[in-house]
Amino acid sequence: MSFSLDTLKLAIEQSPDNAPLLLLYGKACLEELNLNDARDAFLKVIRGDPTNANARLGMAEVVQMEGKTSEAIVRLEQLIEEIPDYAPAYVQLSRILVSDGERERARDIYEKALILNKNLSDSTLEKELSEVTPSGSDDKIRDKKAGVTASGEYLQKDSADEDNHPRGGAAYDLGLSDFDRPKISFADVGGMDAVKEEIRMKIIYPLQHSELFKAYDKKVGGGVLLYGPPGCGKTLISKATAGEIKANFISLGLHQILDMWIGNSEKNMHEVFQLARQNAPCVLFFDEVDALAADRRDLRQSAGRNLINQFLSEMDGAESENDGVLILGATNAPWHIDPAFRRPGRFDRTLFVPPPDEEARAAIIEVMARKKPISELDARVLAKKTDNFSGADVKAVFDLATEQVLNEAMKTGKVVPLNTKDLVKAAGRHKPTTRAWFESARNYAMYANQSGFYDDVLKYLGLIK
Ligand SMILES: Nc1ncnc2c1ncn2[C@@H]1O[C@H](COP(=O)(O)OP(=O)(O)OP(=O)(O)O)[C@@H](O)[C@H]1O
Ligand SMILES: [Mg+2]
Repeated sequence: MSFSLDTLKLAIEQSPDNAPLLLLYGKACLEELNLNDARDAFLKVIRGDPTNANARLGMAEVVQMEGKTSEAIVRLEQLIEEIPDYAPAYVQLSRILVSDGERERARDIYEKALILNKNLSDSTLEKELSEVTPSGSDDKIRDKKAGVTASGEYLQKDSADEDNHPRGGAAYDLGLSDFDRPKISFADVGGMDAVKEEIRMKIIYPLQHSELFKAYDKKVGGGVLLYGPPGCGKTLISKATAGEIKANFISLGLHQILDMWIGNSEKNMHEVFQLARQNAPCVLFFDEVDALAADRRDLRQSAGRNLINQFLSEMDGAESENDGVLILGATNAPWHIDPAFRRPGRFDRTLFVPPPDEEARAAIIEVMARKKPISELDARVLAKKTDNFSGADVKAVFDLATEQVLNEAMKTGKVVPLNTKDLVKAAGRHKPTTRAWFESARNYAMYANQSGFYDDVLKYLGLIK
């Protein structure tokens, strides 16, 4: 707080009904543990405006500090009921619940707070939430051995449980960033012909001709892991895959995955898969899947193991549960993926997504040029000058060139369109971001190339044929 109590007091004397000032004053009093004055300030605001969420939160804090925990909980629950999108109330309630030993509920509520407002994350609280419960239901599950059967059993229990407490299950509740039917298709992705063909062979045809596969008693399913340097179109091609077959697209990014970690929320994981199953054909995309699948044994021993087990058992799917659900994962760090994730039926197929070649870059350049004022552009020339550039790097070149031209435009007051020369010049000033990736990848590919996992990388680097 940058104002001293005295300054605020003076200000309030001048303007006794000023709600923002009263709130500041109330908070400052709280910090000084001056509970009586804090209470008076918050009450005054509430009397003027009973819906003032900040004041009501303040009141809840006051009673909590007075040791009246249950009153504080009731106040916060009421506040949430009346103003359900006021995230700070959830955080505060979660804090009280966790110190009251109600960790499960505290996690759920904290998760909701972050869905409403990511900026409210609180590392101290997170730590408390992720601590292992000394007793209780968590442990029973944790004691079971990881694996298909154990998790399968758990899965059944979980869905039975859910029948008693149906949850919304809507994409919004799950905080999904992306749930739609994408309009882009393979045609909107420049180059990447090999990757497109592999996706067709590995997941599109099997989905379209599932009877054929059934006739040969071959299972359709499992997932495809896309890996490669940043900015080369993994996310883009996943979305385009859904568009290509007019399927729904559900994307889980880093944030949603982390939210589940924090909430230790295997239930949400189950619901995401259910949502995909109910909306089949559907592409279920785990972006930056290493956040979930990272080979960190210490984590797998801890509370987060439930989430991993849940994910694996959802992927394994009982019988034909996952029919029509294509599971894609993307990562920059395939070497950190726990091998358990690559077993048959899981991410058992891997695709290397290399930086675009010259032709692909030309295609990307054409796409990007559509959105800028251009006098003349020879995409071929620029493509030649952008060796090793990713799609994102090409985008950066356009941004750099635009900045430069804007500077001139501001001086002259005229719109100066971009041309090939500006772009080539900008390309010279940008270092491709794929190099650093290949430096690490080369080591893994050369020294940890179990069963030829990295052969595509080695081929790309010209180290094998
Ligand atoms: N083949 C392509 N065709 C058209 N645009 C592309 C292509 N590849 C990349 N881009 C452009 O680069 C941007 C970054 O691509 P994308 O987000 O798909 O990369 P990524 O491989 O998922 O990267 P990261 O590993 O950082 O998540 C895209 O939004 C798009 O503008
Ligand atoms: Mg991506």
